[in-house]
Amino acid sequence: MAPIQLGVLASGRGSNLGALLEAEAAGTLYAHVALVLSDRPEAAALRRARDRGVAARLIDPESRRARLAPEVEARYVEALQAHQVDWVVLAGFFRIVGSILLNAYADRVLNIHPSLLPSFPGLDAQGQALAHGVRISGCTVHLVEAAVDAGPILAQAAVPVEDGDSVESLSERILVQEHRLLVETVDRIARRGFIRDGRRVRWNREPA
Ligand code: GRF
Repeated sequence: MAPIQLGVLASGRGSNLGALLEAEAAGTLYAHVALVLSDRPEAAALRRARDRGVAARLIDPESRRARLAPEVEARYVEALQAHQVDWVVLAGFFRIVGSILLNAYADRVLNIHPSLLPSFPGLDAQGQALAHGVRISGCTVHLVEAAVDAGPILAQAAVPVEDGDSVESLSERILVQEHRLLVETVDRIARRGFIRDGRRVRWNREPA
C-alpha cells in the first residue's frame, strides 16, 4: 500500500497538525500531509505548514456561521482533490462540515475530539468533563458523519482527571495523548485499513 495523502483542516494553533508533520518528518507516519486548509487567516496552523514547505491555503467562509455554506464547502473539496488528498483530518477545525465534503470523502474524514465520546461532545469538552466531575476523561479519533462528534470511533485514550485540575491543566494533559493517538491512528489507517460494520470498526490484519 502507498502512503496516504492527507488534507488537514485546522482553525487555530495547529498542534495536532504539528504532531502529524513531526511524525512524517521523523519517518514514523506512513502518510504525507499534502495540503493544509484553514478558515482563519491568523491560524498558526497555516504558518506551521508553510514552515515545513507544505501547501497551505486560506479558504475564508466570510461568515460567522459554524456550518460551512455549500459553495464554500465545494471550494474546500476542490482544493483537496486538486492536491490528490485521499483522507481528510479535522484537527481543531471550528466549522461544521456537511454532505458535500462527506460525500466526496465518504468514511475518509477523521476528527479528533478532547473527550471520551459519546460523553461531552461539542464545545468545551474539557470544561464539560470537569463540571460533570468525571475522574477519567481523554480523547477520541472518530469518523466524521453529519451529526457533530457522533461518527464511528476509531481510537480512544483515557486521561485521569486530577484533584484541582483546571480546564487548562486537564486540556494540556489530554493534548499530549491527542498528539500520540492521532498520529498512531492515521498510521494504522495507512498500514492496515479497516472494515466498517455499522458503528463498529474492525482493523484489518497487519500485512505480513
Ligand atoms: C484539540 O483539543 C482538538 O481535540 C480539538 O481542538 C483542539 C485543537 O488543538 N478538536 P490544535 O489546534 O490541534 O492545537
